[in-house]
Amino acid sequence: MSEVAFDSLVDSKPVAIEVNGTTVCVTRVGDEVFAIADTCTHSEASLSEGEVTGTKIECWLHGAEFDLRTGQALTPPATEALKSFNVKRDGNKVIIS
Ligand code: FES
Repeated sequence: MSEVAFDSLVDSKPVAIEVNGTTVCVTRVGDEVFAIADTCTHSEASLSEGEVTGTKIECWLHGAEFDLRTGQALTPPATEALKSFNVKRDGNKVIIS
């Protein structure tokens, strides 16, 4: 479990946060926060360096897109889903587990 302050998250700018030894890509979109595994299932690029459009994130290395809400791979070359993490918000506190 890890905590991050909601007001430290910039809309549509993902950040990498350690959660129990795993690097997680945490993204605020409007009032919502999504957390998926940071390592692309295609070839291990860091997704937190990717581009967010709506609730999609595009891997900077070969352009695969993933759904931030579910971790599902939406476009090739990635075919495998990313692990999705549980996010709870309590005021300014965001808890990822
Ligand atoms: S490493 Fe992400 S699409 Fe290839």
